Amino acid sequence: MENSMEEIKRTLEKYSQEHLLNNYEKLSDLNKQKLIYQIKHIDFELIDSLYNRTKKKAEDIKNQITPIEYIDKQKLNGEYKEFQQIGEKAIQDKKLAVVTMAGGQGTRLGYEGPKGTYDIGLDSHKSLFELLADSLKEQGKKYNVVIPWFIMTSEENNAETIEFFEKHKFFGFEENKSIFFFKQGELPMVDAEGKILIGEDGLVKEAADGHGGIYEALVRNGMTKKMRELGAEWLFIGGVDNCLVKMVDPILMGIAIQKHVTAAGKSVVKANPEEKVGVFCKRNGKPSVIEYTEISKEMAEEKDDKCELVYGESHILCNLFNIDAVERMGKKPLPYHVAFKKESYLDRYGNKVNPTGPNAYKFEAFLFDAFGELDDMAILRVKREEEFAPVKNATGIDSPETARELYKKFYNL
Ligand code: UD1
Repeated sequence: MENSMEEIKRTLEKYSQEHLLNNYEKLSDLNKQKLIYQIKHIDFELIDSLYNRTKKKAEDIKNQITPIEYIDKQKLNGEYKEFQQIGEKAIQDKKLAVVTMAGGQGTRLGYEGPKGTYDIGLDSHKSLFELLADSLKEQGKKYNVVIPWFIMTSEENNAETIEFFEKHKFFGFEENKSIFFFKQGELPMVDAEGKILIGEDGLVKEAADGHGGIYEALVRNGMTKKMRELGAEWLFIGGVDNCLVKMVDPILMGIAIQKHVTAAGKSVVKANPEEKVGVFCKRNGKPSVIEYTEISKEMAEEKDDKCELVYGESHILCNLFNIDAVERMGKKPLPYHVAFKKESYLDRYGNKVNPTGPNAYKFEAFLFDAFGELDDMAILRVKREEEFAPVKNATGIDSPETARELYKKFYNL
C-alpha cells in the first residue's frame, strides 16, 4: 500500500493533479479505497490530451462533407415485398437483438431519475421503458419469437434502472434470459485549468462517456457474445427517449441483408434547418452524421433543385448493425466531443462550490463517429409521424406533450 501510495503521488505530480488527494485524510475508509481505485484507473494521458483539445479551434469540416444517398420507404415498389420477406425471415429465425441506450440524464427535461422511467402523461401512465417493452413484446408475438432486449445504463443510473425493472417484473421479460443490462463507461470531468474535479463525496467527479462508448461496452460486458449465443446476427440500437421508436423493422433488416451492408440507419425529413437533430451525410466518402452543434447555417439551409434540404436526412438514433461490425468498432477508439457544463465541486480546502456558470469540461464520444469504420451503410427514409416522437425538453418542441400527441395519434388512443 505504502509503495503504491508513493507511486500514485508520483503519477499525480507528473500530471499536475496532486489536488486529488487534498481531502484524502477526511474520507471514510471505504471512500479512501474508492478514490485510490479511481485514480489508478484514470488514463491521465487521455485526460491531458482531451483537455488540450478544448483549446483548439473547431476545424472547418465543409470540404469533408457531401450528401448521402437514401432509400425512401414510401417510394419502394416491387422491392418492398422482397425486403419484407428477407427481413421477416431473419426476425423469425431469431437473428435480431435490440439495444436501448438509456445511460443519459434527462437534464433538459428537468427530470431527476433515469429517463426511461419518465411518464409522458398518457392515461395509462406508462413509463418510456414500458412503452418500449410493449412494442417489443407485440413485435415478438407477431413473429412468434422472443426478441432479446439489452439495456445500456450508466454508473449514475444503473441501480435505479434495475430497481425500476424489478418493481415492474421486467415487464414480462426474463432477467439474463431475454433482458440484459450493461453499463457504459465514464470519464473524469476537468475544470477550465485542466484539473480533474472532485465531487461533494470527496471522490473524482466522473460523467458518462457518451453513447459512442456503446460498442466497446457491448464487447467488454460480454453482450455481443451473449447475442451470438442466442443466435442473433444483427442488433438494432435505439435511444430511450423516442416513444415511437420502431425497433423491429423487417424492411430495414431486409435492405441491410439484401444489399450486403453491415449497417442501416433510419432518417426522417428534417423539419426545418434549425431542428436540433444530426443529419446523415458522407464524411471523406464514408457514412457519417453531422451533428446540429457542428453544421454551419449555410450548410443547414442549402437546398437542391427540388427545393429539399441537401442535408435533410435527420438521424433519429435508429440504427441496425451486424454484430461483426459492432465488435470491430468496439476495438477502435473514437474521438471525444467537449461540452462545457455547470457542475458543483469541492475546492482544494474541501469546501463545496456551486458555480453560477459553466465551469467543467465533459467528454463524450458519439455512436455515429464510428460509422466511418463501416464499408457502407444503407439509409432508409421513414415517416416522422410513424417513428419519431422524442422527449427531450420540458415544454415546447420535443416535449412530453408533443410526444404524447404523436403517440396517441399513431395508436389511435
Ligand atoms: C441525439 C443525437 C442526434 C439525433 C437526436 C435524435 C447525439 C449526440 N445526437 O441528440 O444526432 O438527431 O438524438 O433524437 O446523440 N445516451 C446514453 N449515454 C450517454 C449519452 C446519451 O445512453 O452518455 C442516450 C440517451 O439516454 C438517449 C440518447 O442517447 O437515449 C440520445 O442522447 P441525447 O444526449 O439526448 O442526444 P440529443 O442531443 O437529443
